[in-house]
Amino acid sequence: MKCIMVTGGCGFIGSNFIRLMLDSYPELSIINLDKLTYAGNLENLADRKDDPRLSFRKGDICKRELIDDILQHADVDAVVNFAAESHVDRSILDSGPFVQTNIVGTQVLLDACRAAKIPRYLQVSTDEVYGSLGAEGFFTEDTPLAPNSPYSACKTSADLLVRAYVHTYGFPAITTRCSNNYGPYQFPEKLIPLFISNATNDQSLPVYGTGENVRDWIHVEDHCRGIDAALRKGEEGEIYNFGGNAEMTNIGLTKLLLELLGKPDTLIKYVKDRPGHDMRYAIDASKAKEKLGWTPTYSFREGLQETIDWYLSNSEWIERIKSGEYLSYYETQYGSRL
Ligand code: NAD
Ligand code: TYD
Repeated sequence: MKCIMVTGGCGFIGSNFIRLMLDSYPELSIINLDKLTYAGNLENLADRKDDPRLSFRKGDICKRELIDDILQHADVDAVVNFAAESHVDRSILDSGPFVQTNIVGTQVLLDACRAAKIPRYLQVSTDEVYGSLGAEGFFTEDTPLAPNSPYSACKTSADLLVRAYVHTYGFPAITTRCSNNYGPYQFPEKLIPLFISNATNDQSLPVYGTGENVRDWIHVEDHCRGIDAALRKGEEGEIYNFGGNAEMTNIGLTKLLLELLGKPDTLIKYVKDRPGHDMRYAIDASKAKEKLGWTPTYSFREGLQETIDWYLSNSEWIERIKSGEYLSYYETQYGSRL
């Protein structure tokens, strides 16, 4: 591959993916299309701003003329769609932007890619499309889709559009579904960066409900290596699950974070539960391991320590983000919970 278009490349996973691809493939050029919503930050790629292989277009994946323009003027071998509204709590407050970007945006992108005969399209999806597990079992690619939040319903709708385009038009798409990511550059509304930031400032950590909900955590770099493997070796029309083999209850993770940060458990504050809160996510990634030769490389403890170190040594990054739009959002929506 010589040129790929990445959408949502200024967000958490997209920026880590761009960095990985530029480092792995010296001949590759990347067009990064991002709307720069509250979650998109050009600073996430500041260390690559002088790389001539990386170009940036500010714009919305819902705008067909813009996508057509990019695809007509560049010889794009593949499109990787990260662009999305990604936070479950925000989707509960207002599902409108989620329907727009996650569903309509995907449809526009699929149509534009089809018209431009783009040879490969990868949809970055989530394990949340499978719904919630009880104490036992794992999500496989054949687990029925049963999304519970407006966020996951919109991601599922996008996956179904991708499926239909493969089936109807023979569109060359691959879908990947991953568990909860952690690592550098994650927006501090998500559990791990939020709790690191709060604990560092001796503020309380708002644990939803009983804290017994379980997530399977994967280091963002392992996820990005999986997407790269699917892009190169994946079969058209197929779905690949990625997970980190690191199931943790939220309260267990919160206590581990406090221990690693040297902060007391008294910072924990149990707050009103998220409505419709999924109990447990856990991934069976054996298909990706067998078919793509992919495996996660990070142990959770090692990855978490590295992540904590990154946030501690990039505290200005987090403070700048928190002083912007995020702060007013956080205060109006969640201030009362703290
Ligand atoms: P993020 O919120 O950090 O970043 C999203 C990016 O998309 C931002 O840069 C934003 O500006 C951009 N964007 C939003 N709407 C856009 C639009 N209409 N047009 C163009 N750009 C737009 O999200 P993330 O955590 O990096 O997630 C990236 C993708 O991975 C999403 O599709 C998400 O559903 C999926 N995913 C995330 C996780 C996770 O744990 N974070 C797990 C599995 C899958
Ligand atoms: P989050 O990072 O929002 O990811 P997702 O909802 O996509 O899994 O949340 C991870 C888990 O942590 C989830 O079970 C909700 C919980 N949580 C809290 O208990 N407190 C918080 O302040 C946040 C943001 C999340």
